[in-house]
Amino acid sequence: MSKDWSTFARDLDLHLDLDTVSGRRAGLERALRDAIRTGRLAPRAALPSTRSLAQHLCMSRGTVSAAYDQLVTEGYLVARHGSGTSVAGVPLPLAPGATPGRPEGTPRYDLRPGRPDLTTFPAAAWLRATRRVLTSAPAEIHALSDPRGRAELRTTLAGYLGRARGVLAVPDQIVITSGYSQALGLLARVLADSGASAVAMEDPGHPFHREIVRRAGLTVLALPVDDGGARTDLLASRRFADAAAVVLTPAHQYPTGETLHPGRRHALTAWARSTGGLVIEDDYDGEFRYDRQPVGAVQGMAPGNVAYVGTASKTLAPALRLAWMVLPRSLTEAVADTKNHADAHTASLGQLVLADLIETHAYDRHIRAARLRYRRRRDLLLSRLQAAAPMAVVSGIAAGLHALIRLPRTGPGEDAILSLAIAQGLALQPLADHWHHGADHPQGLIAGYSTPPEHAWPAALDTLCAVLRQRPSTSAR
Ligand SMILES: Cc1ncc(COP(=O)(O)O)c(C=O)c1O
Repeated sequence: MSKDWSTFARDLDLHLDLDTVSGRRAGLERALRDAIRTGRLAPRAALPSTRSLAQHLCMSRGTVSAAYDQLVTEGYLVARHGSGTSVAGVPLPLAPGATPGRPEGTPRYDLRPGRPDLTTFPAAAWLRATRRVLTSAPAEIHALSDPRGRAELRTTLAGYLGRARGVLAVPDQIVITSGYSQALGLLARVLADSGASAVAMEDPGHPFHREIVRRAGLTVLALPVDDGGARTDLLASRRFADAAAVVLTPAHQYPTGETLHPGRRHALTAWARSTGGLVIEDDYDGEFRYDRQPVGAVQGMAPGNVAYVGTASKTLAPALRLAWMVLPRSLTEAVADTKNHADAHTASLGQLVLADLIETHAYDRHIRAARLRYRRRRDLLLSRLQAAAPMAVVSGIAAGLHALIRLPRTGPGEDAILSLAIAQGLALQPLADHWHHGADHPQGLIAGYSTPPEHAWPAALDTLCAVLRQRPSTSAR
């Protein structure tokens, strides 16, 4: 049975496309999810009370309550004592490739790596900082400015990066970009324009980043990774003779999570100094280290040879599109010129707000709180997985927002586990997505532990454990 209906409950006029062929509760859950995902029910929109909705739908109040509870668990709705149930404040993301109105691909629990918990975005601090900026800054902030970005942010970042990440930065050599992705694209373009033909990149590594480098016309040379991080000791070999630069993630290798071994850091800077090659340091989640002191940036060891890149995508939110490069002096002008021709400069208001957040230490406070939360999640992940799936070795967990679950050679592989995960509404990232060439590689799954909202994490973990035990989850109803 399928019907369109409208109801006037409290002061709400609510329209849902309700299809109850697979049950009333399932139909109601689906209709509400669809309405939220497609934006028909806006973030923070109030919902009718369970009583009035049940009345209008001719359903039991228990059925409506159960549907609301399930959507609260999944993070679509929030229930507040005294003020009823409403749509969550941050719209849930669409899976890559999905479009609004086609929600089938959206997982119940998204453990693919790459995103912080967006429900903890420091909205109040951001709002206060925006107000301060807009009330105190001159109208000139709305005019086009330096392609390197606002001087306020570059000055503040120079101090912050020295203090928090061991980066030797002067404001003149900082360029603000729209994310790490743009920074990498600009650097690749500058390298190609100067006659470079190839760049070494970690294998396994981020496939999107490889593509960015290829689209600049450069050949990507696969640099192997082991438990000591990238094999920078190989850079001096003939295989890498054409490499004008090497791109790597020294603090927390993506995706294996290893830290670059101190000997490899020396091999890296020695290669850069002797060949004039450029090190592109992707410090994407260096702020999140749990078990020991943060590993300082390689840039601090060789500032004349390293282009350091940091991003707000993990500390705040990827949609801000805010990242920063600290460049060798010799590259700054060419990169700024390329940035100018790409998009003039990154939007000024966001830069000024970020500068204010750093200046007032609200940024540090937010990172410290997030670090504690993610550490608790990581600890729970480890203890639960040890009990549920002792055959799976979890690694790369000293830092960052994801873990690598290494699968044994015998037993179910990535594909079998992913199929079961998908059936239970759980999204994971296979290690297979990260190799340069498809061959006989070790198998594993990347599990990001930062994406689900805090309240959904235990249920997401239950589902992950059940999937690894090859059993249906009790949480995935
Ligand atoms: C390895 C790595 N580097 C950098 C980034 C950040 O990219 P951006 O700043 O473009 O959002 C990510 C985000 O997922 C990442 O996984």
